[in-house]
Amino acid sequence: MTDVALRRLEKSFGRTPAVRGIDLDAPAGRLTVLLGPSGCGKTTLLRLIAGLEEADAGEIRIGGRLVNDLSPRERDVAIVFQSYALYPHMTVFKNLAFALKMSGMRRAAINARVREVAKMLQIDDLLARRPRQLSGGQQQRVAMGRAMVREPQVYLFDEPLSNLDARLRAQMRAEITRLQRALGTTMIYVTHDQVEAMTLADHVVLLDRGRVAQAGPPLDIYNRPANLFVASFLGAPPMNLYETRILGQVDGAVLVALPQGALARVRIKGRPPERLTPVTLGIRPENLLLGDAAPAADTLDADVTRVERLGAQTHVVLACSDMQLIAIADGEARIAVGDRIRVHLPGSRCHLFDIAGRAM
Ligand SMILES: Nc1ncnc2c1ncn2[C@@H]1O[C@H](COP(=O)(O)OP(=O)(O)O)[C@@H](O)[C@H]1O
Ligand SMILES: [Mg+2]
Repeated sequence: MTDVALRRLEKSFGRTPAVRGIDLDAPAGRLTVLLGPSGCGKTTLLRLIAGLEEADAGEIRIGGRLVNDLSPRERDVAIVFQSYALYPHMTVFKNLAFALKMSGMRRAAINARVREVAKMLQIDDLLARRPRQLSGGQQQRVAMGRAMVREPQVYLFDEPLSNLDARLRAQMRAEITRLQRALGTTMIYVTHDQVEAMTLADHVVLLDRGRVAQAGPPLDIYNRPANLFVASFLGAPPMNLYETRILGQVDGAVLVALPQGALARVRIKGRPPERLTPVTLGIRPENLLLGDAAPAADTLDADVTRVERLGAQTHVVLACSDMQLIAIADGEARIAVGDRIRVHLPGSRCHLFDIAGRAM
């Protein structure tokens, strides 16, 4: 099995830096997701790995081998683009067979391999059709099949599901996970969609403007964001953030000022900062305690300014003096705009970020 390792990788287009010194490890046999907002360099990274772009500096290793100077073909990776780019005049069979034919494989072997992959992707009854006779999901499967027939060392996927509707996306996510487990091939999957990243990835690399913001298992990143960018990118509704100050420390916890004279007691890893140090306090909507769930001490009185009923959950927008919070309540929660409600921020669920945005 083959891992992919990038070291100090850099790439600019003219004066536009796209990749600014990236160290990244995609473990062998695992599904690594590159996640980040549009323009953060995801496609450029994939194209660099595939050999479709040349790096300005840094190393690209596939299975330990330095591949910077190898052609795309010699790198033995297969890429699936966002636009499927199927050959419109060819049948599904010919679309799948094309790369094999080009590589000079014998006809009987091509036939067997195409049917095997088509079966795996459940498109074996569509082999005689042309792309325009297929649904979006079926076209997507053919595009994946074209990459899979070759049995490359590494699969690269660039936002392959973004043209599909939500239901089909969920179904394809499950299929990609199943396929990746079954094949055991190293996969690097690019998306801007955090749900896709959380549900697919063994390993997530979150990118911010051409740099790695944080890498690790999805829940580690969700639960322990290394900085404000990561904290606010992951999670919907996003983490609540409040700019405030440290008031002191007691029993190994720092005291953080909240509105209405309340405090949050937060444990941090490093040395406690001085009194009045400015910080940003973060707490996820699902971690706020509302109403009767709030303890007696250190509660805030908040005004309910908006209620969004999603069915399974209710999103509640709250105003407490100069602090705005979004909380998640039950689908049936008896809460209405104009209510006044108690809110507690449990210190064990709070995150603190320093003035540079780093987790404390
Ligand atoms: N061929 C190109 N020529 C000029 N600029 C490019 C080119 N490709 C990408 N860029 C720029 O590089 C940055 C990263 O782009 P890209 O890798 O496509 O991001 P993403 O896939 O995360 O949306 C963007 O600022 C983009 O405008
Ligand atoms: Mg892109």
